[in-house]
Amino acid sequence: MEENRKRIFSGIQPSGKIHLGNYLGAVRNWVQLQDEYDCIYCVVDEHAITVRQDPAELRRKTLELFAQLLACGVDPERSTLFVQSHVTQHAEIAWVLNCFTMFGELSRMTQFKDKSAKHADNVNAGLFTYPVLMAGDILLYQADLVPVGEDQKQHVEICRDIATRFNYNYGDVFTLPDAYIPKVGARVMSLNQPDSKMSKSIPEGCVYLMDKPDEIMRKFKRAITDSDTERCVRYDRANKPGVATLIDIYAAVTGKSYEAIEAEFEGKGYGAFKPAVGEAVVELFRPIRERTEELLADKAQLQQLYRAGAEKASAIAGRTLRKVYKKVGFLER
Ligand code: TYM
Repeated sequence: MEENRKRIFSGIQPSGKIHLGNYLGAVRNWVQLQDEYDCIYCVVDEHAITVRQDPAELRRKTLELFAQLLACGVDPERSTLFVQSHVTQHAEIAWVLNCFTMFGELSRMTQFKDKSAKHADNVNAGLFTYPVLMAGDILLYQADLVPVGEDQKQHVEICRDIATRFNYNYGDVFTLPDAYIPKVGARVMSLNQPDSKMSKSIPEGCVYLMDKPDEIMRKFKRAITDSDTERCVRYDRANKPGVATLIDIYAAVTGKSYEAIEAEFEGKGYGAFKPAVGEAVVELFRPIRERTEELLADKAQLQQLYRAGAEKASAIAGRTLRKVYKKVGFLER
């Protein structure tokens, strides 16, 4: 029965802490999908070094992220959770796939354009071939579905293109994956720049899983609303983007519809709405933050879990890589 389940793969970078966008756009779905699918989740530290990292910090953040994912509900009994650099096949397959990816394709990637503008002093080759490493992550596990936020859709598409090209040359080696993008929460916007997505690069507009309740409340109270005179809670992304951002978050956290939310705050104005959204997020994150702290207190248990995860992952990854090496004509050792 297990064998018939479809396979899911997804990853998250340890360059920052989990924020509300990561949670609603991806991690929450990772947890939900465990019931139905064979899930493999990865802390992608190799992707993180495309931007300079402090080594000690990266190690710490990797472990913290691993603990946060467990606290969110990724269950190592049912799913595989591991750290990318522990499974050497990721770097190895990336080389092969680099030879099946075109310069022009990579040049068109939005994230590359954004990141190379942001880190103009370090436009390294890893930043450019980042989507190839990501394609390798997915293809190594023959994943059917990749749960991600909207911003990663283009990367899943190029993964399909690379896999299609490889399969065209060598037969059906890779499963072609589809992106799985949630209906709500796929693109959580920044609280203080509602036309940019929430990300750690805009710290004041970004709410982290590990933020203390008063910090979360402070960020929501300072969230940009709109300078329109009606000051009512109504969903209008074009004209009231700040309010729309908050309604989106409230809808994603509570499961309520836009209509229900508008009715709930009818006649109440932004002064009541902003703290209500903050409270909902505080309560969502409170148990996860507390559980993360407990998990981080037992480093030996975490080590045991990430070692076991790497073992499970590399057994699958090894099979795919051997097949790929054979197909391209590498002499067996
Ligand atoms: P990363 O680490 O930037 O983000 C992790 C996940 O969070 C989603 N996300 C958002 N969703 C909604 N609103 C937002 N504001 C928001 N910000 C981030 C992302 O879409 C992502 O799903 N390249 C990937 C990591 C990766 C990966 C993979 C993903 C590496 N290999 C293989 C899937 C499969 C990344 O940088 O995600």
